[in-house]
Amino acid sequence: MRSLLVLVGSTLVAAIAAPAALGQLAPVTPESPNAESIRDSYLFVSIFVVGVFLLVEGLLIAFVVRYRRRRRERFEDGVQIHGSTKLELMWTAFPVVVLFLIGAFVFIELPGIKDPPSARASDELEVRVTGQQFHWQYEYPNGVIAIDALRAPAGVPVRLVVTAPEDDVIHSWWIPSLGGKIDAIPGRVTETWFEATRPGTYRGQCAELCGVEHAKMLASVEVLPEAEFAAWLRSRRDAQSARTSDLGEELWAGVCAKCHGLAGEGGIAPRLAGSATLTDRQAVEEIVRNGRRTMPAVGNDWTDEQMDALISYLEESPPRGS
Ligand code: CUA
Repeated sequence: MRSLLVLVGSTLVAAIAAPAALGQLAPVTPESPNAESIRDSYLFVSIFVVGVFLLVEGLLIAFVVRYRRRRRERFEDGVQIHGSTKLELMWTAFPVVVLFLIGAFVFIELPGIKDPPSARASDELEVRVTGQQFHWQYEYPNGVIAIDALRAPAGVPVRLVVTAPEDDVIHSWWIPSLGGKIDAIPGRVTETWFEATRPGTYRGQCAELCGVEHAKMLASVEVLPEAEFAAWLRSRRDAQSARTSDLGEELWAGVCAKCHGLAGEGGIAPRLAGSATLTDRQAVEEIVRNGRRTMPAVGNDWTDEQMDALISYLEESPPRGS
């Protein structure tokens, strides 16, 4: 009887705490059609999960009460029941129907999750995404480079062509409100997409444990109205060519600082503040392109424009330590 009270008590506590906890379990508000399909599938499956949970736990509690030992001797057998065709049919058919419904629903939703809207393939934007220890690099069709923070137009399908360098590890690009995870696999190309419904900033993070600084591999997508985005992309293109963009600073903060510290104060990698190497263009390029000891060759596919941006930034504002 006492254990029954404990059971009822803890169930009550759980039930009271549940509404708060449920908010944490629910998927984020979808801001792209594929994220919407994922949310719908989640909710559809949840109906059965909650139903089965209540059914099983309800029966469990009912049986515990109804068939408790009462005054029967401890080792005396209870009533023996052999077979019940009706019951057996029910517990076989019910799971089959549930699994069929879930399977059918997911298969119906799947194309909407995987495939970008094909009717508008002509005006979609393609961005190349490279996952690397420990940053995301984005490359637009016109050669504009961005690190960690992607900018995208609202209402336009954005196709992401995702990969990772041959000598890197697997990462996973994930902005929950814009769709599911997609792995960035060394030497392979995977694809995903989103079509943001409205402007805003959507955050996510690398979803595959990829090393000590995995937690710093954040990603965000800033969605702008289409015209504003187009203007930004053009001006960024010009600024990048004219060597006046913020690319150098972005590279420092996104690529170097994750390990060497934002002020070059050191972290899992050596302190860079005050290092004479930083003022030696050739030495910096050599290390960034080829890596050194445990440092990966983060810049082996960088364009000269990109390399220049980092080196110029380091010359203009060398890290000063903390
Ligand atoms: Cu990249 Cu975790």
